Amino acid sequence: MSSSILILGACGQIGTELTFALRKLHGNESVVASDIREGGEQLMKTGPFELLDATDYTALEDVVMHYEIQEIYLMAAMLSAASEKFPERAWNLNMNSLFNVLNLAKEHKIEKVFWPSSIAVFGKHTPKEKTPQRSIMDPSTVYGISKQAGERWCNYYHHKFGVDVRSVRYPGLISWQTLPGGGTTDYAVEIFHEALSQNSYSCFLKEDAKLPMMFMEDAIKATIRIMTAASASISVRSSYNLSAMSFSPAELAKSIQNHLPDFKISYDPDFRQEIAATWPSSIDDREARKDWGWLPEFDLEQTTTIMLQKLKENL
Ligand code: SER
Repeated sequence: MSSSILILGACGQIGTELTFALRKLHGNESVVASDIREGGEQLMKTGPFELLDATDYTALEDVVMHYEIQEIYLMAAMLSAASEKFPERAWNLNMNSLFNVLNLAKEHKIEKVFWPSSIAVFGKHTPKEKTPQRSIMDPSTVYGISKQAGERWCNYYHHKFGVDVRSVRYPGLISWQTLPGGGTTDYAVEIFHEALSQNSYSCFLKEDAKLPMMFMEDAIKATIRIMTAASASISVRSSYNLSAMSFSPAELAKSIQNHLPDFKISYDPDFRQEIAATWPSSIDDREARKDWGWLPEFDLEQTTTIMLQKLKENL
């Protein structure tokens, strides 16, 4: 039997595209998508789907046993901006879902687990440029605290119980298939939608808030690459730094203006600017490159071109 894969949070921004990519790679029937709500037509129609709350251990265990799951991707989480509004709910969701998956992996001898961390693990005292793999980590957000704690638990379950859990620190992710929700880097997706519908955008970050970013195709490629690498090559069992490009809202606006010369941006920073101000501007990802051959493909110009083209087709 080919490997049975379970994706938790399959209807979210990353989960949707990850589900499609894994179904293409392993066959539709081998990839069970799950979420607390139903997803789009293509996701629901192309393979098995389960309504599943990642914080419910018994429900997860039932699905794992029913499908003889051997690999789990835990993509369910509350992002940075939303977590500031609902701190306890965010902590409970982000941590309990991770404990559930790590314990399931331990008890049911699940072969591999993927759990995403984030640039949000870094904070005010972390070096901002080319942030190293190992550095000061003083996250100031509920989301960042949950990711930092999660990294330590992944490392602990690996060394203590032999759980083969793998992780990357995603930067802000830019995609056209599914919208992000509740994040600080969401502006970099919203801006494309509003550029096409209104020819203008009011940005909730400051014009010079430079952050690490990545096109979704690269993020999916990184996820699949780390999960298919030999276990012995994964030397970091907390989470790997991962980088593709960095830009500010002003630089993104300029790149959009190369395609839509009349596009206008204005700035009205809110509480998300305070979050962004504590995150790195660029990331040193040499260890991911060395250990499992990570190499990004998409830069800002390519990302802008594809985003505008795909969203225009969908209008
Ligand atoms: N993109 C996420 C957020 O903005 C960071 O991991 O919350």
